[in-house]
Amino acid sequence: QTPALAATPPMGWNDWAHYQCNFTAQTILANAKALVSSGLAARGYDIVTIDDCWMQKQRDAAGNLQPDPARFPQGMKPVADAIHALGLKFGIYEDAGSETCGGFAGSGEPDGGGNDHFAQDARLFESWGVDYLKLDGCNVYVPKGGSQDAAYRKAYAAQSAALKALRHPVVFSESAPAYFQGTPGWYEVLDWVRGYGQLWREGSDIMTFNPKHPDKSRFHSVMWNYAYNLPLGRYQTPGNWNDPDFIIGGDGGMSLAETRSQLALWAMMSAPLILSSDVGKLSPTALHILGNREVIRIDQDPLGRMATLVQRTPTMDVLFKPLTGGDYAVAVFNRGSAPLAVDLSLDSLGFAAGNACSMSVSDPWTHATLSQQHGLKANVAAHDTAIWRLHPATGCAAAERTGAITAI
Ligand code: DGJ
Repeated sequence: QTPALAATPPMGWNDWAHYQCNFTAQTILANAKALVSSGLAARGYDIVTIDDCWMQKQRDAAGNLQPDPARFPQGMKPVADAIHALGLKFGIYEDAGSETCGGFAGSGEPDGGGNDHFAQDARLFESWGVDYLKLDGCNVYVPKGGSQDAAYRKAYAAQSAALKALRHPVVFSESAPAYFQGTPGWYEVLDWVRGYGQLWREGSDIMTFNPKHPDKSRFHSVMWNYAYNLPLGRYQTPGNWNDPDFIIGGDGGMSLAETRSQLALWAMMSAPLILSSDVGKLSPTALHILGNREVIRIDQDPLGRMATLVQRTPTMDVLFKPLTGGDYAVAVFNRGSAPLAVDLSLDSLGFAAGNACSMSVSDPWTHATLSQQHGLKANVAAHDTAIWRLHPATGCAAAERTGAITAI
């Protein structure tokens, strides 16, 4: 039996949130090399995706997409080959509409005339060795009086079928749900995207890097997507992932505490871990955080369950997530601006604790492991997150935490 595509949440890097359209082949390859030399690739960050602006506005005479010669003077194949030669996978961006958000040639239908390029583009991508496609959702043609849902569904279904017809498996990332934010019943889109691809963007875009404004807004955009994603656990199973967008931890505007929080919260939600930063400029501490094996292991847990919110105060969220093999992960996120002294009893987490129950508790940030009977204690700095892996040793009957307060 062949393993399912994206059996665990995809991990990698994408240029968009750091560079937008300011990149060339060199930028992409420098980041690919930095993933390897920093050790992040070995920790699982192995899909390198080129986002919008890689193509020209016009197709060639045969209707094929053309890479921008100023960015890719040798075309796309040598770039893909170089990425593969580093032991990484190659991802590319296209759009389900007639133009990308940046105004370049899209794969989609311009005018209701059936003139889409989904199959042709899929074959071109296959000739380059593409392993992953992000299909954005700008400029999707909606017939007059027609439904937005039906128009998007048609486009994403067509792209999905075209990818499935290829010999090489391609992970399909669908941006459609992000284009329904604010629409009543937006989450109904998730019922069909699940059938077409392995992950889907929802919520807003994580704010892009602007060296002139290294303020708090980037962290606020991380918070927005965290809150948006948290209720979506029911849509997620292995091979089908909610995607709250890029990991910008370590990049401009994010403190180290916020970097720890983003990685830990994304891991608690089993979200895709797609870095978007200048990897070569990440500090040793940021690399250490983003490469944390135990946090990544919680993200990549084969059960693929999203955490549920089991306690909330104005400044604190407690998340609880079942892991494979009877383990659990617990995270305490301090969203406030003052330090937080945490003392969580095992009872409050739903374990029938008492004297009979003993847990082995490990802290991925400090690598400390202790045997615990009563509770979890930590001092959590502002915007930081404490996270633990719990291994119930004996006598700790665990109640299933359904966390109804977070379900949508
Ligand atoms: C909107 C997407 O959500 C972003 O991630 C990025 O792909 C841009 N479009 C590119 O134009």
